Amino acid sequence: MIQLQDLSRTYASDEIETTALNGIDLAVEAGEFVAIMGPSGCGKSTLLNIIGTIDRPTDGRYLFEGADIARAPEAELAKLRRDRLGFVFQSFNLIDELTIAENVALGLAYRTMPAREKKDRVAAAMDRVGIAHRQRHHPHQLSGGQQQRAAIARAIVGEPRLILADEPTGNLDTENGAQVMDILGQLNAEGATIVMVTHSPSHADIAKRTVHMLDGRILSSARRAA
Ligand SMILES: Nc1ncnc2c1ncn2[C@@H]1O[C@H](COP(=O)(O)OP(=O)(O)OP(=O)(O)O)[C@@H](O)[C@H]1O
Ligand SMILES: [Mg+2]
Repeated sequence: MIQLQDLSRTYASDEIETTALNGIDLAVEAGEFVAIMGPSGCGKSTLLNIIGTIDRPTDGRYLFEGADIARAPEAELAKLRRDRLGFVFQSFNLIDELTIAENVALGLAYRTMPAREKKDRVAAAMDRVGIAHRQRHHPHQLSGGQQQRAAIARAIVGEPRLILADEPTGNLDTENGAQVMDILGQLNAEGATIVMVTHSPSHADIAKRTVHMLDGRILSSARRAA
């Protein structure tokens, strides 16, 4: 599904140049569930953002289903994000002025489909993660675990092929973290490809492969014994 080849990302300011990613080679096949681990600052979020096309590499190739998109025009990337990708973040990123149902519907904002179908899909996504009974509430009225499940509903309502999650359990207690991992595991079992950053070894164990990073490089990549 995706291939990163000798990919680098540097941030240049007036005097200092920071190398966030340095010669990354990584392939992710359709249907995989990959966990990315490594110390703070090693480049995990940068890598996930580049995979999600919300950041671009400074060097190297990024093939998405065979096409090199490292330098693709922004409009093409926006379409890719809309049709193929779902994002989940550590801090949920829900909009407090909107209800939960309206937040979930944002996942379909740029799709053209009959209003009825949108409504049905939003209802199904909320049901899926067990927050249908909170659909008229606003994010601040929900627990952290419920907010993250709403964010997952928003990410999956468009039925993305690739789900990118940056520390999705980072702000959750053990029980809510386990619920979120259950949902991600089920989505993967149903065919979604998932790339997830985590600091939790037990959550990485739920993935089928763990990639360890250090200082902008990939140290190792190990598949879980079946
Ligand atoms: N916009 C930016 N400008 C300059 N440097 C940046 C920028 N974004 C990230 N960096 C640097 O790139 C490196 C990698 O950052 P990144 O956010 O990818 O780390 P991370 O592995 O996700 O860390 P954490 O576990 O703390 O989330 C860090 O040294 C960071 O300071
Ligand atoms: Mg990060």
